[in-house]
Amino acid sequence: MKGHYNIAIDGPSGAGKSTIAKMLAEKLGIMYLDTGALYRAIGLKAYRDGWPEDDKTVAELLRGVSVTVDCDPATGRQRVYLDGEDVSEQIRQDFVSGYGSRFSALPSVRAALLGLQRSIAAGHSSVLDGRDIGTHVLPDAKYKIFLTASVDIRARRRYNELVQKGQNVVFEKVRADIEERDRRDSTRETAPLRKAEDAVEINSDELSPEEVAEKIIRIVNG
Ligand code: DC
Repeated sequence: MKGHYNIAIDGPSGAGKSTIAKMLAEKLGIMYLDTGALYRAIGLKAYRDGWPEDDKTVAELLRGVSVTVDCDPATGRQRVYLDGEDVSEQIRQDFVSGYGSRFSALPSVRAALLGLQRSIAAGHSSVLDGRDIGTHVLPDAKYKIFLTASVDIRARRRYNELVQKGQNVVFEKVRADIEERDRRDSTRETAPLRKAEDAVEINSDELSPEEVAEKIIRIVNG
């Protein structure tokens, strides 16, 4: 029986983080927290209320907003609530990705979500996926993975996922959006996307989700 531990999985959009994090949580019997969902919930709020991309104004507006999550360790299912409303499906809409990415660059938004992420990780052995988990949210996480894949492969995966959900999307637009998000997520000043020095990098271009999960389980089981 292992004691309390956390696994941080960071990487760019579409590298397969959430699929793999879910598998790991199930196989290892630990909790899964999709931190991107929290940024998406704020992005949805910003879209609905027409927030300006201004850190000072947003810091004020955030005082009146609550983002909470409900993680079921038995199923790995996560519900996200914005001011008590279950927005778990709405935050998956394609346009919310852009809002989530833009507002996640604001220090006030990152600060507002930090405590929630840390308290969940402190309370349960968990796998967290995001952009700054290993570098900033949980710098002492026992296991750190940096998951990458080429832009083309990531765009193809995201495109297939959106089509499967019945969304009307064009491949070139999905690819351009991913490139734009990569640029924004890795060049922002506060907690940008980058590999932690002690993270293990895995490129998923040629690997199935099962193969990636197996690699990580081998690392965890030492
Ligand atoms: O992983 P995702 O696509 O659901 O994340 C949505 C956006 O949130 C993404 O463009 C970057 C941001 N994000 C972040 O800045 N830090 C995290 N830990 C997770 C997501």
